Amino acid sequence: MISQYPHLIDLNDYPVSWWNKLIELGHDIRLHPQRYTHACEGKIMATLFYEPSTRTQMSFQSAMIRLGGNIIGFDNPSSSSVAKGENLKDTTKIVSSYSDILIIRHPQPGAAKAAALTADCSVVNAGDGGHLHPTQTLTDLLTLHEEKGRLDNLNIGLCGDLVNGRTVHSLCKALSAYSGNTFVLVSTPNLRLPSYVKDIITASGSRYTEVTSLDEVINDLDMLYMTRIQRERFASEEEYLAEKDTYVLDKKKMKKARKDMIVMHPMPRVDEIANDVDEDERAVYFKQAKYGMYIRMALIMTLLESDTPTRLLSGTVRHKVNCQNPKCITNIEEYLPKSFTGSGDTLECEYCDERILLEH
Ligand code: NCD
Repeated sequence: MISQYPHLIDLNDYPVSWWNKLIELGHDIRLHPQRYTHACEGKIMATLFYEPSTRTQMSFQSAMIRLGGNIIGFDNPSSSSVAKGENLKDTTKIVSSYSDILIIRHPQPGAAKAAALTADCSVVNAGDGGHLHPTQTLTDLLTLHEEKGRLDNLNIGLCGDLVNGRTVHSLCKALSAYSGNTFVLVSTPNLRLPSYVKDIITASGSRYTEVTSLDEVINDLDMLYMTRIQRERFASEEEYLAEKDTYVLDKKKMKKARKDMIVMHPMPRVDEIANDVDEDERAVYFKQAKYGMYIRMALIMTLLESDTPTRLLSGTVRHKVNCQNPKCITNIEEYLPKSFTGSGDTLECEYCDERILLEH
């Protein structure tokens, strides 16, 4: 299924050259913001946030206002018709007819793609459950570009909740497209990176190692990406409590790190980075949040100027097969065409990337 609008659902739907152009534009906007104050005059951006957010939503809003455009939207679905039982398709259809670009965050993996299927304007995925978060990744790439001066040949440590952290999934997918990057995945056995992301790293020719101790590897890293344990994505409070507080980056640990290692975090931080790290000049997470606004300005401008259609579904629609990921949007919004890539007994859901085995 091809939509006539340019969407951003997954960064990997675009070539690396497109990401690089965005990064260059984001860099230019950062240096010369006054050149862009009329770039989106007369345009409207809608934000549909079905999940809490501070940075992503406000940086998008601030980005559009700084480009001269206007904003509408909700950040609490219970104050919209969603509370009356309106489905995603109807909400999207209607809000997209009021706006030129729609930014959606939703707790279900695959929801942004589902929204794009019916939207009458561009859709941007601002986080779909534990799946992907491409605009955080653009933020992270701009941060690396500004702070390290390169996106390749980096030894990248990712620490914390690697199974549920959508920012981690998108970032690993993106950085494995640049040459010479290696990944050090620091987590407990229960919170390891999903296999499909590890397969993407391997297929790109990059290498990864999985470890449980941050102390043992911190000295080797060019960048350390800390993440919060994603409490809301655990099946029970006990399971969350068992994982909480395993990794805390503090001043003492920072002493072991290289002088030029930077610390990034998509935020919000809970307690995985001690406050005493904030004064360390290697801690760039507050700057990172600001870079997010510049790269979102670049993204909004680029999508609004483009008329490139997006291929949303390219696999086979199988009405009788259900995605085995219970959280997948196709198991919630049942009118959606269930579409899978792959053949034989192993298929991959085109909404949430879950790999499923057909039973006979
Ligand atoms: C992240 C998210 O929402 O996935 N936050 C963000 O967008 N900056 C990370 C998180 O919630 O832990």
